[in-house]
Amino acid sequence: MSLNTILILGAPGSGKGTQAKFIADQYGYKHLSSGDILRKTASEDTEIGRSIASIIAAGELVPDELINKMFLNSFKNLEGEKIICDGYPRKLSQAEFLADNSFVFDAVIYLNVSLEEVTDRISGRLTAKLSGETYHVKHRPPKVDGVCDVSGEKLIIREDDKPETVKKRYSVYLKETQPLLEFYGKKSVVIEIDSEQSMDIVWKEIEKEVFKKK
Ligand code: AP5
Ligand code: MG
Repeated sequence: MSLNTILILGAPGSGKGTQAKFIADQYGYKHLSSGDILRKTASEDTEIGRSIASIIAAGELVPDELINKMFLNSFKNLEGEKIICDGYPRKLSQAEFLADNSFVFDAVIYLNVSLEEVTDRISGRLTAKLSGETYHVKHRPPKVDGVCDVSGEKLIIREDDKPETVKKRYSVYLKETQPLLEFYGKKSVVIEIDSEQSMDIVWKEIEKEVFKKK
């Protein structure tokens, strides 16, 4: 089966961005991260930018009208390319919108991880805005403290990585995003990966289960 369109699903901090980047780099996919796209718009000094920034900082979801249009346009622009979607769709209404627009995922990767583990991961996360790389103070430290290995830019801590916002994001995930597993499960394309394991083991499992690497 050809895998042109993949969705990676999981709680905040489950490793979606990390594993999506591996898929993009090693299998030639375009990585579409809704969070990265929205954070870029949020950093602009415009009315829409400020509005998105305050929604993200509160751990809420931005309105469907905004994100649906953004992604449908990207899919049209990337027609013929292999894409890995990270963070979109993340609620039933978004998944239904895509289905109504005849967009189908060839595979859905579900990274299953506990709340304790995501709390530890997010509390040590360091992000590189320009390169899109993600580090962790313990599990994936950069070679030089506070600096991205790839771009040399200064690493930052995300605005929404404060413990109280992480709790809110996790509860939004349980309520809004987990139902997608049943939605896509009915189309039998969900591949569950135990993401409680180390980054390398998770990656090996994705290669084995999704890309059928021997
Ligand atoms: P988004 O940026 O998508 O955030 P999220 O879903 O909360 O997920 P994260 O990016 O926090 O975690 P991740 O799973 O990518 O983990 P990572 O690989 O970084 O969305 C942010 C906000 O944007 C939302 O709250 C919402 O406001 C808005 N938004 C986005 N999409 C939207 C949509 N569709 N509709 C409406 N609003 C939307 O890993 C985490 C850390 O752990 C890193 O430090 C990493 O190095 C480390 N790590 C990764 N894997 C492992 C491992 N196996 N073992 C140990 N450490 C690991
Ligand atoms: Mg991410």
